[in-house]
Amino acid sequence: MEKNNATGLPNWILFLFLGALLWGLLYGIFYHGFLNENPENALLDETGTFVVRAEVQIPDRTADAVTAGETAYKTACIACHGPNREGGVGPSLADATWLHGDKESDIFRVITTGISAADSKTGQIMPPMGGASLSKAQAWQILYFLADRNGSIKKGE
Ligand code: HEC
Repeated sequence: MEKNNATGLPNWILFLFLGALLWGLLYGIFYHGFLNENPENALLDETGTFVVRAEVQIPDRTADAVTAGETAYKTACIACHGPNREGGVGPSLADATWLHGDKESDIFRVITTGISAADSKTGQIMPPMGGASLSKAQAWQILYFLADRNGSIKKGE
């Protein structure tokens, strides 16, 4: 068998090793978004810039996260739910009437999956806001913001 003169190991082991390194690098770049400006675990700060917190998938419920949620709300939700969450095309998010459930888990589900024509209560649909248009972290931040402003949302469920 052909041996590498420098290491004394068979060449195929070295190729395997380098291949694994390369694969790991490409995997990191493409699947974990090392080069992505808006990864799932990014937090939007109050100035509208993304802060990457690689170790945090679900952001902590801090005052900063509430503020970031307000910023993200202004971009993603304001057109249909109004500047003061008073409603428009979509229902009010400031009152205590919840067509799709008043638990935080209900609201998080609506934010990320939207409301299809089949599930609509008003005849209007809500597009899914997860994925490219809104990171998961931003969806959480918006939830924290809505819950912070509206005490009728049942926390922690
Ligand atoms: C294109 C318009 C549109 C956008 C943008 C939009 N929504 Fe909606 N949303 C709706 C409509 C319409 C409904 C009501 C659907 C129905 O009739 O059941 C709704 C329903 C909801 C509900 C359920 C309300 C209830 O009474 O249970 C929540 C919560 C909600 N939206 C949050 C958000 C948030 C947060 C964002 C931004 C991330 C957002 N929506 C963006 C149109 C929109």
